Amino acid sequence: MNILTIKDLTVKHRDSTILDQVNLTVQEGEWLALVGESGSGKSVMASAIGGLLPSELMVLSGKIFLDDQEITRFSEKEFQKIRGKEIAYIFQDYQGAFTPFMTIGKQFDEMLKTHTGMSKNERKEFALLSLKNVHLSEERVYKSYPFQLSGGQLQRAAIAMATILKPKLLIADEPTTALDSLTAAKVLELIAELTKQTKSAVLFITHDLRHVRKYASNLAIILRGEIVEFGDKKTIIKQPQHLYTKQLFSAVPKLRETPVRLLPNTVKQEATY
Ligand SMILES: Nc1ncnc2c1ncn2[C@@H]1O[C@H](COP(=O)(O)OP(=O)(O)O)[C@@H](O)[C@H]1O
Ligand SMILES: [Mg+2]
Repeated sequence: MNILTIKDLTVKHRDSTILDQVNLTVQEGEWLALVGESGSGKSVMASAIGGLLPSELMVLSGKIFLDDQEITRFSEKEFQKIRGKEIAYIFQDYQGAFTPFMTIGKQFDEMLKTHTGMSKNERKEFALLSLKNVHLSEERVYKSYPFQLSGGQLQRAAIAMATILKPKLLIADEPTTALDSLTAAKVLELIAELTKQTKSAVLFITHDLRHVRKYASNLAIILRGEIVEFGDKKTIIKQPQHLYTKQLFSAVPKLRETPVRLLPNTVKQEATY
């Protein structure tokens, strides 16, 4: 079943087209990797889905569905009801997931208060369990302010918060870009473990092709706001159709020497695995 369906979505900034008739779907339990160079429109797409587009960007046409519910032109109030509950985000900036001067526990509590009918005790128990689930010392983290935690602990807490309500769709926008490769691997394992439990569909925005190979089931390649390739990951890697995708995934040395604007290092590293 499709959890996310995007149909012919066009987003503009004044006269320039940021997303050009985008079509894609993400199914229950599936990881769709959205891959494209910096500035290609990945984050704009992520924002459009959850109603987070800045006011200067406009949805010109197209539709976004969550399950079979059209959410394209939801009001902010309607989006607030589903954001955090049905659509959750994990960003590169983990600090940004939390308000600085409120304990982590209080922030979990506020969220559970907004989206569930749980009692005070139930909310606390549920938050502690969720922090424990991401391998944190739950009592201490619950009582802490964000600045009292390390970056790694904050990341885990942010992942716990994003998945606590079993969102239908989890949007992870370059969740590991700022991390060293060992931490990145651990964070992705954790997200994989949790989304397996919650059966969430995952829109996984990344430019790390190793992570694409490991976690994605489907793949969408975006180039200057256009989806140039979309479908089963293995098929695309085996038989890329678009020149850009060929350059990204090709193991042919000649092509690797061709300038590729998306992280040339990533392409070079490809030979090592
Ligand atoms: N608030 C904004 N106002 C104007 N242009 C924007 C805004 N946000 C993003 N853009 C433009 O949209 C394009 C896509 O940006 P973005 O989705 O952030 O790229 P990325 O694929 O790196 O996430 C870029 O050309 C960017 O300059
Ligand atoms: Mg981005």
